[in-house]
Amino acid sequence: MKKTIRDFDLKNKRVLIRVDFNVPLDKSLKVTDDNRIRASLPTIQYALDKGAKVILMSHLGRPDGKPVSSMSLSPAAGRLSELLGERVLQCSDAVGTRVKEELGQLNGGVRVALLENLRFTADEEKNDATFAKQLAENGEIYINDAFGSSHRAHASIEAITKYLPSGAGFLLEKEIQYLGEAMQNPKKPFVAILGGSKVSDKIGVVDNLIDKVDKILIGGAMAYTFLKVQGVEIGGSKYEKDKTDLARAILDKAKAKGVEILLPVDHLVVQKVEESAATRIEGPGIPQGWFGVDIGPKTVELFKRTLDTAKTVVWNGPMGIFEMKPFATGSREVTAKLAELAGRATTVIGGGDTAACVIGFGLDGKMSHISTGGGASLEYLEGRVLPGIAALQEK
Ligand code: 3PG
Repeated sequence: MKKTIRDFDLKNKRVLIRVDFNVPLDKSLKVTDDNRIRASLPTIQYALDKGAKVILMSHLGRPDGKPVSSMSLSPAAGRLSELLGERVLQCSDAVGTRVKEELGQLNGGVRVALLENLRFTADEEKNDATFAKQLAENGEIYINDAFGSSHRAHASIEAITKYLPSGAGFLLEKEIQYLGEAMQNPKKPFVAILGGSKVSDKIGVVDNLIDKVDKILIGGAMAYTFLKVQGVEIGGSKYEKDKTDLARAILDKAKAKGVEILLPVDHLVVQKVEESAATRIEGPGIPQGWFGVDIGPKTVELFKRTLDTAKTVVWNGPMGIFEMKPFATGSREVTAKLAELAGRATTVIGGGDTAACVIGFGLDGKMSHISTGGGASLEYLEGRVLPGIAALQEK
């Protein structure tokens, strides 16, 4: 068991919290999705309530080791300040004498500070010990609440734990609890839903899940690669030619393990991938010149029926091009079905696109857990050890 923020006496301490404020910004540098900022509030508020001064740190984007003004964390500081209802001091850098001076203000009325983008120096991604030590000098206790970045062995995630007592924040703890329970001790039947565009992105996940789940439902473009190897016509639909052997191996492994893989039996198809394109339902095969853009109504019914008795569901990857409204039905219906299972089953939504999809349909409140990690939740579902979690102190 890893230590958590509850295991420390925080009174009058400077608590250095690694958060994941890697949030999308629009052209005017306004935060367009503040979910990751909101998700860090319980940990920040707890530290403040216990009498700590809070120093937050995060990366934003991929500035490649140099300062890029459009990737400053200052819009995130502004949004956090609105959400907390108090001033958040935006530091000019992450380490150095000037930052030390700025953080001196924390002895006055200001209780929360946010360091500047950690990736403005290449040392962060190099997991550099000197940089980690300098970061550590900004606080007395280190808390990792950045689940979304915990698959990165970076200075603020891993090396820093060598220089400060460390533990998990509430968000990290919740992610480990839900994802961990699904992977180690799921209530059965356990159904996984996988979608998205590439088989290659999900290979590790399918491989790991086959040992744990009862059924796997596959939608999205990755389904076409599986259909192709089964000899089903897929028209012009996107599929990965070089991944057909892999898809075949997965189908064989599932068969050997008695795990049922359900593929789409019909599809919403178009001749041009445009929102205004005329649509048709075809299935099981797709005629030449047509492209699959969503699962069809029979597949929706099949997937819903399968989910009806599930006690644990993990979903990663949309069922179609949900960003385009006419092609969002499959993803919306699956979301609605999971919402209906609230109270009856544990529903865990992988981060990234799938989280955006569920939040977009306004049904996020009905899910047991929506991960804030894209890559991190995939690696967790692959059964990999996340360096950011492994590095924290044991109880
Ligand atoms: C994410 O958005 O997945 C995390 O913030 C990690 O970002 P990265 O992929 O740039 O390391």
